[in-house]
Amino acid sequence: MKTYKIAWLPGDGIGPEVTEEARKAVDAAGARHGFKVEWARYPFGATHYGRTGETLPDSALSEMALCDAMLLGAVGAPSIKPGILERGILLKLRFHFDQYVNLRPARSYEGVPCPIGGRVNSIVVRENTEDFYMGVGATAESGNIDAPFEAERGLYKVSGRLSAAFSSGCAAAAQVGVLTRPGVERVTRYAFKLAEERGEKEVTLASKANAVPILYGFLDEETRRVAGEFPGVSLKIQNVDALCYHLVRNPANYGVILCPNLFGDIVSDLLSGLTGGLGLGAGGNIGDKLSMFEPVHGSAPDIAGTGKANPLAAVLCAAMMLNHLGESEGARSVERALESYLAEGGAKKPVELGGSALCAEVGDAVVKKIG
Ligand code: NAD
Ligand code: IPM
Ligand code: MN
Repeated sequence: MKTYKIAWLPGDGIGPEVTEEARKAVDAAGARHGFKVEWARYPFGATHYGRTGETLPDSALSEMALCDAMLLGAVGAPSIKPGILERGILLKLRFHFDQYVNLRPARSYEGVPCPIGGRVNSIVVRENTEDFYMGVGATAESGNIDAPFEAERGLYKVSGRLSAAFSSGCAAAAQVGVLTRPGVERVTRYAFKLAEERGEKEVTLASKANAVPILYGFLDEETRRVAGEFPGVSLKIQNVDALCYHLVRNPANYGVILCPNLFGDIVSDLLSGLTGGLGLGAGGNIGDKLSMFEPVHGSAPDIAGTGKANPLAAVLCAAMMLNHLGESEGARSVERALESYLAEGGAKKPVELGGSALCAEVGDAVVKKIG
């Protein structure tokens, strides 16, 4: 029997609760469609960091590299300074495995109305390695920023020095956005190929060249050039502020939305909200090495441990992961089970969607339908 090895990093807050349900769905799909999954669980997150001071050791990266895919809950906790776990674990994984696309489908389901009407069937193709996530920056108490930087990506290594002097000597911080031609090219090709597969005639690029013309002017130019390779699909460049406005008023007008890293982060949560909740937003961090599946949402410390977490985003991640592994029938079984569960509606819906079903009850209801 085909056996897959999956790295499982539940993480913090609701991460362990929701990925447990995703794991159950994968195992149920395996039992039905004739494959097995071996789960390699990793403890990284706030508790492990508090105990050991370690975020994500390189030895774990080498082990994970031997896995077929990875399932991640979420990392980050109110007790830990923002950025330590997020950059030290999540972004480290994305960069190390050069997962250059963060693919985030957002669609409406029967039984879950869009909070403001209309239907959503979009997919965010978020560049996942560059932009303001590059990690180039520094703070200075004295008004003199002078900091060396180094970053390594699959495509290149970059090093240099960030230097600026403020005449008033005021405390200051600077963080630089970086885009490269090969970085823009590969994610743009991915977005256009995806539009072709979805039978769509247009890709929308979320940009902001009017205010940030150097960085996003470059983005527009490079994207336009690559778009020329796809005569059947046109490129619409839209300022991200206007895009958000139009998305809220007319979500059905959008299919593939190509975004630089930071805008993609924001637009993803907006779209999840439009589908009914963050608990429906699945995502995959896709690259040519290890790909990693994680919900759009975070560790939701405000509801962790209450059972109110909606695990369906994680369950949809499981379906995306199965597709990625080539188990498309297993993926379809999971999706169909989830669709049928949501369509039934009523009190059996997750708390987030107005019902009273707790996290494990939602997971069990879906698993039962996978059969
Ligand atoms: P969040 O996504 O965790 O929560 C935002 C709001 O949505 C909260 O009110 C939360 O209760 C609700 N929510 C989120 N997921 C839900 C679900 N499945 N079911 C029901 N309600 C849900 O965003 P935040 O509050 O900005 O971040 C909390 C922590 O998570 C921070 O430390 C942040 O850095 C981290 N984070 C991690 C990831 C990740 O690891 N992938 C992603 C985003 C945020
Ligand atoms: C996400 C998260 C992360 C991001 C954070 C936790 C670093 O918000 O995956 O959407 O900004 O990419
Ligand atoms: Mn986010």
